Amino acid sequence: MKSVDDFRLKLGEHELVPLIIGGMGVDISTAELALEAARLGGVGHLSDAMLPTVTDRLLHTNFVRTKLRQYKSNVANADKSTVQFDLEQIAESTRLHVSRAMEAKRGTGMIFVNCMEKLTMNAPRETLRVRLHGALSAGIDGITLSAGLHLGSFALMEDHPRFRDAKLGIIVSSLRALQIFLRKNAKLNRLPDYIVIEGPLAGGHLGFGMDWNKYDLREICKEIYLYLRAENLEIPIIPAGGIFTGSDAVSFLEMGAAAVQVATRFTVTRECGLPEKIVQEYFKANEEDIEVNMISPTGYPMRMLKKSPAIGAGIRPNCEAYGYLLDGNGNCAYITAYNREVAAHPNARKISVMDKTCLCTAMRNFDCWTCGHNTYRLKDTTRRLADGTYQMLTAEHVFKDYQFSTDNRISLPNVHPQ
Ligand SMILES: Cc1cc2nc3c(=O)[nH]c(=O)nc-3n(C[C@H](O)[C@H](O)[C@H](O)COP(=O)(O)O)c2cc1C
Repeated sequence: MKSVDDFRLKLGEHELVPLIIGGMGVDISTAELALEAARLGGVGHLSDAMLPTVTDRLLHTNFVRTKLRQYKSNVANADKSTVQFDLEQIAESTRLHVSRAMEAKRGTGMIFVNCMEKLTMNAPRETLRVRLHGALSAGIDGITLSAGLHLGSFALMEDHPRFRDAKLGIIVSSLRALQIFLRKNAKLNRLPDYIVIEGPLAGGHLGFGMDWNKYDLREICKEIYLYLRAENLEIPIIPAGGIFTGSDAVSFLEMGAAAVQVATRFTVTRECGLPEKIVQEYFKANEEDIEVNMISPTGYPMRMLKKSPAIGAGIRPNCEAYGYLLDGNGNCAYITAYNREVAAHPNARKISVMDKTCLCTAMRNFDCWTCGHNTYRLKDTTRRLADGTYQMLTAEHVFKDYQFSTDNRISLPNVHPQ
């Protein structure tokens, strides 16, 4: 019976354990988590979501305070079109975050950055370009362009000296999205180095509509595999979403996948960025405690725990400090929803907004507990402690469990000294 360790992911001259820890924003997939994946011979991801606030917290920079000070007078104004990011500050925060991880990297694995096009930051092209160039200049091994269309992102990097040497991959959820990407980028003469195929059971935003449960990862992979073969395109494919055991991974590797991308099982590790109290909520969750809803202002469905404090929170939009989802004209679906509720309840001291959430603030404060479909199985991957809580895992334990387990077995951690 085979294990993941019987396979290798080849990316150019690199030979890797075919296990990729997916990007989890905002700083849920921390540098520490990515460094463990690289040390163990696989691939880890940083997330490039909201890096100015992430470096403020980790490295004591002052990016958010500086921006807020500049736009303070606009806080009560519904029009956010003037609230712009300083491009040099975005570049600097990206450089700081990425270079810190790359300098600490040990082992034969790689560290990529997950780049979300949905973060339009009130100037989509300019800010995306700075984020991509900043990561490449800071020495990142590769960039994964996360689901969304990202049609122009390769072109934005074309003039960077590392455009052809860094590994560049895309995440798609359908053959159609892949075909559109390949057609649009044909003239660059630069194919993606890998394609992550993210199915409907993943965490974070989904590349499907609310009919996500009609889709099946295996079917999408087969369709894309046949298409690539017919077109003579040798691009590694990497399924993601719902791959919970080493045996699940092996079944995809035997189908022809080059590696698998996983995330949910790492949300309960010490290296992951979620505070320990919230990790306990992930462990405790049952299947009926998880939902896919439309509260993200991006317009994409998102999976999360129903208990997430972000659901129904009616806070004032925080665009002067954050503003990562402003669309380029100063609009965000949360601002519209918030203003509608304020107008409907003019005398209320506190309002609730049920249909959208201020995702920047919620993700920054770990109030949106986004998670994969299989989160309800996490309790079976650890031990219950005498005080009723669940024992947190290490990234090494989970990584090696994926790498070596067979027969759908999940090895429990050693008993934690009390
Ligand atoms: C907490 C959490 C946050 C995530 N955030 C992102 C993200 O910011 N960008 C992204 O492309 N994918 C994100 N994902 C998706 C993962 O990178 C990954 O592809 C997927 O969850 C793998 O499926 P699994 O969680 O069932 O293993 C997130 C997943 C989780 C669990």
